[in-house]
Amino acid sequence: MKQLDGIAIPYWQYVFPAAVLTTCLVILAAVSLPGRAPLILPAATSRTQGPGGNRSSCNIFKGDWVPDHGAPSYTNETCPVIHGHYDCMRYGKPDLEFLRWRWQPEGCTRSCLLSRAERPVPWTNGGYLYRYERHGFTVADFWSPFLVRAAETDPDGPARNGAGLWSLHLDEPDPGWAAHVSKFDVVVVSAGSWFYRPSVFYERGRVVGCSGCLAPNVTDLTLRYSLRAAFRSALRAAVGASSGTGTVVVRTVSPAHYENGTWNDNGDCVRTRPLRRGEWEMERLQKEMRRIQVEEFAAAEVAARGKGVRMLLMDATEAMAMRPDAHPGKYRLWQPDKFRVSRDCVHWCLPGAMDVCNDMLLHMLID
Ligand SMILES: *[C@@H]1O[C@H](CO)[C@@H](O)[C@H](O)[C@H]1NC(C)=O
Ligand SMILES: *[C@@H]1O[C@H](CO)[C@@H](O)[C@H](O)[C@H]1NC(C)=O
Ligand SMILES: *[C@@H]1O[C@H](CO)[C@@H](O)[C@H](O)[C@H]1NC(C)=O
Ligand SMILES: *[C@@H]1O[C@H](CO)[C@@H](O)[C@H](O)[C@H]1NC(C)=O
Repeated sequence: MKQLDGIAIPYWQYVFPAAVLTTCLVILAAVSLPGRAPLILPAATSRTQGPGGNRSSCNIFKGDWVPDHGAPSYTNETCPVIHGHYDCMRYGKPDLEFLRWRWQPEGCTRSCLLSRAERPVPWTNGGYLYRYERHGFTVADFWSPFLVRAAETDPDGPARNGAGLWSLHLDEPDPGWAAHVSKFDVVVVSAGSWFYRPSVFYERGRVVGCSGCLAPNVTDLTLRYSLRAAFRSALRAAVGASSGTGTVVVRTVSPAHYENGTWNDNGDCVRTRPLRRGEWEMERLQKEMRRIQVEEFAAAEVAARGKGVRMLLMDATEAMAMRPDAHPGKYRLWQPDKFRVSRDCVHWCLPGAMDVCNDMLLHMLID
């Protein structure tokens, strides 16, 4: 395995230009490691043994959030690319307590996996691209909320509640990312909450059903169908394009935390502390979404093995479910002309809880 150093994916959830009713935890972020300075791991990093040296007892996806009074590794002052939607410090989140927790996985000793090696040169060229010149390392973020080719066909939407109607071509990976994927060594596929939007499903160019389209002549197959089909197409494309040495990572859904109402009603997220394990019961549908992703991951892994492509599951759902305190709520850049949702309990403040996904990713890549 290539050695990775003090890496370099500081802004995980960044740069989504949109964000209405939900999340666009979309990403297909990718990393390429062509030539140039080898990436060397700082010695202390990441052998993940439990206190007794028992590797197999360490599970990075199960654990608790524990108090941590260290300074955040970046802030709105030191990080130039935090999107306004996630810049809770700048937009006055009254209590910065949400920063003072770190994920303590079960049975694992902690090492700080992520350090900031170099300030990247941002490029925009369709997606967002951050180039770490000294390390010959590139991180790209392709915004593709459904992973497959999609278009909004009616901005008012069938329910006239601010959620537009989309057409999803479930058997066609979104060329916006699929055209580039073969250039990267590591691909992270992540999507979820946009599937809640009303949409009409197409396969081979024909309508096969919908979700929430409220049309009497189209069967409502629910988002379970579109989520599964889109993941299947996307993973097939990612594995297919991957060279024999590539890695495809699937990140599971991160749940929303609206309380006392819904996203378009008076729902909000005003808690100031993480929950302990088991204190947050996810909605049934969100649990099912995670299960669908895990199943599609497992199916794709069989095909990947035959090709020599490595697949990894980043099962971040439980860790994120325990952080109702770490969403922007109303403390963010709000552009009511573009985004009608006033309180965002879907995306995550940066810096903040979502940074744990960087740690998980690095851990998974080097382990
Ligand atoms: C390592 O941990 C596993 C799971 O807790 C346990 O079953 C096993 O006995 C442990 N092995 C050693 C050598 O301690
Ligand atoms: C960072 O946030 C603080 C408030 O916490 C604000 O006063 C300052 O202007 C912000 N700086 C930038 C560059 O956004
Ligand atoms: C369903 O009916 C609507 C309204 O009559 C029509 O516009 C639409 O094209 C129909 N869709 C299909 C798939 O037949
Ligand atoms: C829900 O409403 C109750 C009563 O108004 C309030 O005390 C509580 O803080 C609210 N909880 C959240 C998470 O908004």
